[in-house]
Amino acid sequence: MSEFTEAMAFRHACKKFDIEKQIPQEEFDALLEVARMSPSSFGMEPWRLIVVRKPALRKALKSACWNQNQITECSELVVFTTDNDTVRSGTPYVRKMFERRGLPQDAVDTYMGVYKNYLEPIECDEVLLENWTAKQCYIAMSNMMTYAATLKIDSCPIEGFDKESVEAILDLEYGHSVAVICAFGYRVNPQSEQKRLELKQIVQYR
Ligand SMILES: Cc1cc2nc3c(=O)[nH]c(=O)nc-3n(C[C@H](O)[C@H](O)[C@H](O)COP(=O)(O)O)c2cc1C
Repeated sequence: MSEFTEAMAFRHACKKFDIEKQIPQEEFDALLEVARMSPSSFGMEPWRLIVVRKPALRKALKSACWNQNQITECSELVVFTTDNDTVRSGTPYVRKMFERRGLPQDAVDTYMGVYKNYLEPIECDEVLLENWTAKQCYIAMSNMMTYAATLKIDSCPIEGFDKESVEAILDLEYGHSVAVICAFGYRVNPQSEQKRLELKQIVQYR
């Protein structure tokens, strides 16, 4: 098995974390770096990660997250939020993200136009925009979980939460929203068996 497939086999949605075991800061930094390096649509990097460490905040979040124990028991809790307003077409942020590629001005203008055409039908609806930016977060989260598994760090992706409550507890800035949450730490119990559909049930060649 390659290191990657070993990590895929090791990773499971950890339900019970060891509250005594902390992820070393340098390893957690490496996980955050993997999120930073993840790909995003048009390279807009809409994610803004909040690492929640304060016990009182964790406790408040737990009640907004279906009372899931992972929220308070994990070593590091990462809330993936998105800055939706800043990635709207035509903003200075979007221009800067294209300009940093070192393109001539007319090419930047072309990119701005293509981006506008793509995003207009999405950004006209707040929910569609939030969903679009959230999709990027899932890529970053997924990379973090798999990389964590190579370091024998467990994780649990968490979608079971009341979005509005989580946003209120974290007091998010206007235009920001919560996409998904991920708990990281170390398992207490052996991992459950990975149940999956067969390849032939999910893949078609045409
Ligand atoms: C986007 C997403 C959201 C999830 N939300 C939760 C959650 O809120 N609580 C939980 O215990 N597990 C959650 N899970 C874990 C899944 O239930 C789990 O990944 C799936 O059952 C497969 O099991 P495995 O990851 O252990 O192989 C989530 C998984 C994903 C990908």
